Amino acid sequence: MLKKCLFPAAGYGTRFLPATKAMPKEMLPIVNKPLIQYGVEEAIEAGLSQIAIVSGRGKRAIEDHFDISYELEHQIAGSSKEVLMEDIRDIISNCTFSYTRQLEIKGLGHAILTGETLIGNEPFAVILADDLCTSSDEGALSQMVSLYNQHQCSIVAIEDVPEDQTQNYGIIEGEEIEDGLFKVSNMIEKPAPEDAPTNLAIIGRYILTPDIFDIIRNLKPGAGGEIQITDAICEQAKQGKVLAYKFRGRRFDCGSIEGYVEATNHIFQKQHGAG
Ligand code: G1P
Repeated sequence: MLKKCLFPAAGYGTRFLPATKAMPKEMLPIVNKPLIQYGVEEAIEAGLSQIAIVSGRGKRAIEDHFDISYELEHQIAGSSKEVLMEDIRDIISNCTFSYTRQLEIKGLGHAILTGETLIGNEPFAVILADDLCTSSDEGALSQMVSLYNQHQCSIVAIEDVPEDQTQNYGIIEGEEIEDGLFKVSNMIEKPAPEDAPTNLAIIGRYILTPDIFDIIRNLKPGAGGEIQITDAICEQAKQGKVLAYKFRGRRFDCGSIEGYVEATNHIFQKQHGAG
């Protein structure tokens, strides 16, 4: 059974400088909630309450966010502001949080391997908080957990992207075995459009079986000279079975300013019933 969700959160967020000079990019607010909190809420909805965070230097605000602030609680006790704290209080009382630091930024595969000490020998989910997923019914990760329970193999979330954008994503190739569900035969990290076999791009939701750690340990650096999770999952696909799933819902690339603003408008309209 899946219990743990890993959040790689050591990256610098240079696209948001100077906002991210002293503040982790995962703490940038979408309306009134930090990005990473949306990810944690999605994990909880999927039944995963053991949150594992791969953190780094300058990221302590994340730990403080998922902890009790006695001074603040004292200050707002009995006031109308208490309602704003309800969600985060629920999260803190229903989850555990563990942290480890990635000392050097050497790619997503390396970040996930750094999290092995928090995960151990069990299947786990990964959420990249930069990719904010919304849906009108079940959350993206929850949809993937149901599939995992049926298939017991690694699963990546995918979506169609415009053909001229393949160089920004991991791209999969495979056979569609059910509507929106592919058995992966190949994966390429950030191919140029002319080298991309499809326009099916991996987005930041993964369920991984723990044999992934040994595979990453033995990987050579890939695209951009980094240890790529895409290469490790491709290896799993060649040894056995990996699925790629077009989830129901919408994804915002909050690693870009444009996606971040779109997500902000979308969530604001959802909250205020406008538009
Ligand atoms: C990472 C992965 C890539 C994936 C993307 C989704 O890239 O390496 O395969 O498509 O996340 O957001 P990054 O955006 O960190 O460059």
